[in-house]
Amino acid sequence: MEKHYHIVTYGCQMNVHDSERIAGMLSELGYTSCDSMEDADIVVFNTCCIRENAENHAYGNIGMLKKLKAARRDMIIAVGGCMPQQIGKADILHKKFPYVDIIFGTHNLDRLKDYILAKRGRKKAVIEIQEKEGEVKEGEHPLRTSYPNAWINITYGCNNFCSYCIVPYVRGRERSRRSENVIAEARSLIADGYKELTLLGQNVNSYANGTDDIRFPEMLERIAAIDGKFRLRFMTSHPKDFSEELAKAIASNPKICRCVHLPVQSGSDRILKAMNRKYTSADYLKKIEILKKYVPDCAVTTDLIVGFPGETDEDFKDTLKLVKEVGFASAFTFVYSKREGTVAAEMPDQIPEEVSKARIMELVELVNSLTREHSAKYVGKTCEILCEGFDEKRGLFLGRDEFGRMGYFESDKNVIGEFVNLRVDEANGVSLMGKLV
Ligand code: SAH
Ligand code: SF4
Ligand code: F3S
Repeated sequence: MEKHYHIVTYGCQMNVHDSERIAGMLSELGYTSCDSMEDADIVVFNTCCIRENAENHAYGNIGMLKKLKAARRDMIIAVGGCMPQQIGKADILHKKFPYVDIIFGTHNLDRLKDYILAKRGRKKAVIEIQEKEGEVKEGEHPLRTSYPNAWINITYGCNNFCSYCIVPYVRGRERSRRSENVIAEARSLIADGYKELTLLGQNVNSYANGTDDIRFPEMLERIAAIDGKFRLRFMTSHPKDFSEELAKAIASNPKICRCVHLPVQSGSDRILKAMNRKYTSADYLKKIEILKKYVPDCAVTTDLIVGFPGETDEDFKDTLKLVKEVGFASAFTFVYSKREGTVAAEMPDQIPEEVSKARIMELVELVNSLTREHSAKYVGKTCEILCEGFDEKRGLFLGRDEFGRMGYFESDKNVIGEFVNLRVDEANGVSLMGKLV
């Protein structure tokens, strides 16, 4: 009888790609993918703990499996990723959900296969968290699910310790893959027909720092030099490490997309310092100026946090001011969430929820108006879209242009994985509607 797996993924692109690695392992064990938990012989939750609500989602969904597991005792439930990697969390998870069979962290994700085999032969749960990050792994066989895009990790972990952030604690210190391995992977993905490569790291700009390997801009150039029509994206860039060389690389290689995600977090110098971001708002604006000097039409997107401990109305106004000044193409906005174990969790003046809520509403309104402005500029123009999927609900194909804007359109034939030209008739907030020409 065929065995099936179902993976539930929370969090960032790193986790999305980790789930592809998990899928690769499960398929080596003979499992095939299925769309629902009810049909699955193994359900894997690949969790995130960046904010409290990410954890709550996972808690809710793992809790819902209790009934299913009671009815189907042979079903295996595994919980892995960033959430159990937090100190003491695996035990909490085990107590809360005694029916979970396997609990693993981020540093031992590659051993899931062993844990499944071990679990098949015993009643007791397999709980294993590896405290330290290991060496960078090569030679895995992820089962990719995001064609025509392919995710490629270039670094793992993070050294920045922004005071609010849990990532350095659950992903370990920054490690870079060797450039020859990254470039070989890129080459083979292009040969396999992928049309977009996205290089992943918490701070891609510090790639290979302190080693004898090439720097990030050169890595981009070498990948862009691979034959074939494809797009090259990367995320995320930390403003403190964003360099003029990177702006030049984007300017001189048409395959590198003209969109940069450069999280600023706050526009207040006082708050930026307390966040340990290592730049001021003036430094940030200077980086934008350098980028625009070389790539005038580059779309810049960002992440913003409101309600960081001690944030005053003045600090918040500085954020609004900076957002207007840069004119972001779009932005992710977050209410600060206290993460146990981080420096900011111990700071005085945690901001009351109602204050943060009012601030985020004002910020979202501003960001939405900027997004609409950007989209409106497209109306009547034609842009090149890489079709990446079909939206079942809307009955439309969709894909992005090189600035990262999402376009929707009708097509008689399946054009997923193809570059198409879209004449934009209408802009709806963050997305565009048009006709193929
Ligand atoms: N490495 C990336 C971001 C990774 S996390 C970078 O440094 O830019 C993605 C975003 O989540 C962050 O940019 C930040 O805006 C947000 N974030 C991280 N920790 C948070 C917290 N404790 N509360 C609210 N938002 C948070
Ligand atoms: Fe977190 Fe800062 Fe590292 Fe980004 S750079 S992952 S926000 S610690
Ligand atoms: Fe979440 Fe871990 Fe990514 S905490 S945002 S899944 S690195």
